[in-house]
Amino acid sequence: MSQESPAIRAESLTREFYPHRGFFRNGEPVLAVDGVDLCVEAGTVFGLLGPNGAGKTTTIKMLSTLLVPSSGHAYVAGFDVAAQERDVRQRLGVLLGGDRGLYGKIPAVDNLRFFATLYGVSRLEIEDRVQAMLRLTGLAGRQKERVEGFSRGMKQRLHLAKALIHDPEVVILDEPTIGLDPDAAVQLRAVVRSLTPGKTVLLTTHYLAEADELCDRIAIIDGGRIIVEDTPAGIKRLVGSGSMIEITVRGNPREETIEALRMCAGVDGVIRLPDCQEGVVVLQISGRGDCLTEWAIPILIADGHPVLSVRPRTVSLEQAFLALTGSGQYGLAGARA
Ligand SMILES: Nc1ncnc2c1ncn2[C@@H]1O[C@H](COP(=O)(O)OP(=O)(O)OP(=O)(O)O)[C@@H](O)[C@H]1O
Ligand SMILES: [Mg+2]
Repeated sequence: MSQESPAIRAESLTREFYPHRGFFRNGEPVLAVDGVDLCVEAGTVFGLLGPNGAGKTTTIKMLSTLLVPSSGHAYVAGFDVAAQERDVRQRLGVLLGGDRGLYGKIPAVDNLRFFATLYGVSRLEIEDRVQAMLRLTGLAGRQKERVEGFSRGMKQRLHLAKALIHDPEVVILDEPTIGLDPDAAVQLRAVVRSLTPGKTVLLTTHYLAEADELCDRIAIIDGGRIIVEDTPAGIKRLVGSGSMIEITVRGNPREETIEALRMCAGVDGVIRLPDCQEGVVVLQISGRGDCLTEWAIPILIADGHPVLSVRPRTVSLEQAFLALTGSGQYGLAGARA
């Protein structure tokens, strides 16, 4: 694969499901993934975020050759996932998590030896590779135990070791830190980060701080469609230019005053928080940092509202996600009343 070609590319990728009702396949078709375009540059970590049922796992399964797309195309390491499955699988490591995909009755180390053989790791390399993966995932001390006795977090680590066993150039991880304790999650994030730039990582997660920390770029998927794709900082800027101040004022500013604040240059949004104290109102104003105090405070004072306090706040990726998927209180660009 040349340096320039993306490690993962999807073009109008679509997948429908026809749910079963009883014995018959007569439910309304579900458009789980609806024309997804993706481009993941080699050597980067790319996050696919979205609410439950958004289409993340379905997308990942199509990229991993586990599900056939209904339409559209996808390429991993330059190979077509529908027409060149073998080539894709050789170059791809996948973590789907859960209880499936591991053999409970045999020890962890034998699971890895088995998968190493299956993925074509040469006999001479298998033992070194298995031990390296056990060390990397912190399972070296438990390698002789049967997997059925492993905790959820330990199984998750073994899934990661399995995904990496054949040293794939592209790694796809579906919710890799789910079920891990905070210490193990920190370690796993460090492992993921260490995989780049040698490898390319596509991951899904519901932990937005994790996506913020790990990902070079993020796509948010909702209802099977990508609604935004940008750097974590870019996504936060969409919601509030990355800056927010909370101004506490005496009295209750009129709607015209709030509107005047919204019209100020550099201000993206103004939210009046529910009254928490008699005669006092808290306004959350998001926008370009320098504009907030320069414009907002004089307008409030001129309207007869002494400013009692000004507190800076930063927009988290979580707030941005909630706004973009329509479930939060942080309306986009002043759209909220
Ligand atoms: N085998 C299936 N049969 C029918 N519908 C399915 C099937 N697999 C997924 N779906 C539907 O496709 C949609 C997307 O599901 P998917 O598992 O891709 O979501 P997700 O983004 O991974 O969600 P989560 O965050 O809960 O893991 C959902 O409406 C789901 O019910
Ligand atoms: Mg999923």
